[in-house]
Amino acid sequence: MTIEDLKERLEKMNKADLGYFPTPLVRLDRMSQDLGVDLYIKRDDFTGRCLFGGNKTRKLQYLLGKALKDGADTLVTYGASQSNHAMQTAWAAKVHDLKAVLFLAALVEPDPEDYRANLLLNRIFDTDLHLVTPEPGEDFASVERRSVDLGRNYIQDLEAQGRKVQEIPMGGADPVGSLGYVEGFLEVYSQAKERGLDFKALYHACGSGGTMAGLMAGKKALDASTAIESVLVLDSGDSYGRVKAQLANESLRLLGLGDLVKEEDFHLRKDFYAPGYERPNAQATEAIQYLARTEGILLDPVYTGKAFSCLLHDIREGRYKKGDSVVFLHTGGATALFSEKEIIGDL
Ligand SMILES: Cc1ncc(COP(=O)(O)O)c(C=O)c1O
Repeated sequence: MTIEDLKERLEKMNKADLGYFPTPLVRLDRMSQDLGVDLYIKRDDFTGRCLFGGNKTRKLQYLLGKALKDGADTLVTYGASQSNHAMQTAWAAKVHDLKAVLFLAALVEPDPEDYRANLLLNRIFDTDLHLVTPEPGEDFASVERRSVDLGRNYIQDLEAQGRKVQEIPMGGADPVGSLGYVEGFLEVYSQAKERGLDFKALYHACGSGGTMAGLMAGKKALDASTAIESVLVLDSGDSYGRVKAQLANESLRLLGLGDLVKEEDFHLRKDFYAPGYERPNAQATEAIQYLARTEGILLDPVYTGKAFSCLLHDIREGRYKKGDSVVFLHTGGATALFSEKEIIGDL
């Protein structure tokens, strides 16, 4: 399908005005020279009008588009205590005069006297904030499940009071949210075409999988050859690829297209998140320092630092040859640089 066809289909969807688009596509000159590969960065960290943008802004445009059309006055969503998605939902709610309610699983327990990073921003945005802390011995997945149960009970109470609630899943990872990255892929693909570039690969950080699903749906719809390298930031379990292929296909169906995405299409890179979500590692620390010191661009320790360390690993292993062009999708997350020491590590 052509760029114009896909654009037209996306334009028919409900979309709220949020963020700044298109985001810049920038060549990393010094790093390209250093590494012998033509490296670019797509600045989706610049999407947000509140100062701290990121990939969630693209998803929230479509999620709020639907919420506003359905007459919602309140958004309820979930995430970790320093979730970028949750903070961006709190911000997006302010832009459109909605109430935001956040149920956050406190993997790293915050000091109530010293809220940092996204938690601090959530407070500034006057968000209805519910922190769910782990019981002794409880794992993170279980705390997350519990926070969703608590959120759903709260939604019932709100609805009983006459509020119109739109529930948004963790990471905004549903078929409507992923449309944001069908559009994100379309945008970077169009920019590349205009500049005569043909990216061998696009690298990005992958958590809830909504970004990956949208990117893959966009790639398949446009029949683009760029490989999508999805660098996991947490242990995602065995059914992840299957579930995200379904998600991608549901987004395509919303656009009136068929099931184009198969589980095998995803390149899930699992070797870069250890020791775990919101836990730093030496490769990510090196990647963050290297990009900051050669190009003056900041990454974060939870998502983009780990994804960029995978890209550096592949280049250093010789996966790309001289003249190949590769793009890194910067998905934001800079606030984590001001979070708790356990998250920042040795930066
Ligand atoms: C900065 C950043 N990058 C990447 C991701 C991963 O995106 P997704 O949840 O769509 O996989 C997130 C998700 O929270 C994020 O905050």
